[in-house]
Amino acid sequence: MRRPLIAGNWKMNKTVSESVEFARNFVDAVSDVADRDILICPPFTSLQVLGQIFDGTNVKLGAQNMHFEEKGAFTGEISPLMLKDVGCTFVILGHSERRHIFGENNDFINKKVLSAVSHGLIPILCVGELLEEREAGRTFEVVGTQLEEGLKGLSKEADFVVAYEPVWAIGTGKTATPELAEEVHRFLREKLAELFGKEKAESVRILYGGSVKPENVEGLMAMENIDGALVGGASLKVESFVKIVNFGR
Ligand code: PGA
Repeated sequence: MRRPLIAGNWKMNKTVSESVEFARNFVDAVSDVADRDILICPPFTSLQVLGQIFDGTNVKLGAQNMHFEEKGAFTGEISPLMLKDVGCTFVILGHSERRHIFGENNDFINKKVLSAVSHGLIPILCVGELLEEREAGRTFEVVGTQLEEGLKGLSKEADFVVAYEPVWAIGTGKTATPELAEEVHRFLREKLAELFGKEKAESVRILYGGSVKPENVEGLMAMENIDGALVGGASLKVESFVKIVNFGR
C-alpha cells in the first residue's frame, strides 16, 4: 500500500551537459514504469534544465539541500521558492554528508524540514548512525533522536519521507544486510507511530540508502518496512539506475 520511491542522489557529480545526456536517455528507459515513484536529485546547477526534460514524464525532480528562508543575505544558499520555481517537488534534508562534513545539527535540519513542508516540497529526512555509534550499541538512540528532533513541530497531515542511511554503508560498498536494515526501519516506524499515530506511521515511506546496487536492491525491497531506496553512486549511470528502478519487474 506504500508506493515505492526510488531516488537518485547525484551529490556533487555531473556538469549540465552530462546531466542532460543522462536525463534524455533515462526518461526514455523508464517511460513505461507506472507503479512506483522515480526521483532524481542533481546538483543545483542542473535543476532547471532537468526540470524541463522531466516535465510531463514520470520522473520527478528534487534538490539535495536548501536553506529554510525564502530569500535574503545567505551567501551561497538556495531557497525553497527557488527550488519550486525550477520544478522540484522533493528535497533531501539532513544527509549524513551535510551533518558530518558541513556540521548541520538536528535543530537546523528541523527548520529546513518545516520550511520545505510549508512551501509544498516533500522533505526526505535522512537519519543514520556512524560506525562507532553502531559498535557502541547506540543505533536506535541516534536515529530515534535524529527522527524526533528533525520532525519536531510537523503536523501529521504533512507529506514527508524518511531515509535510513547507516553512515558506514554510504559510498563504502558495504550495504547493510536486508535484515539489519529492516530492524532499524521497523524501529523508525514504531517511533513515527509514537509521534504521529499508527495510521500516519503506516503511510510514511522509509527509504534505505547506503551502497544500493542492482545486485542488492531485490533483497532490500523484499523487506516489509523498506519502501524504496536513496541511491548515490549507482544512480550516476543510466544502466545501473534503470535496473534499480525496475526492481521486482
Ligand atoms: P551510495 O550513497 O549509494 O553511494 O552509498 C547513498 C547516499 O548517500 O544517499
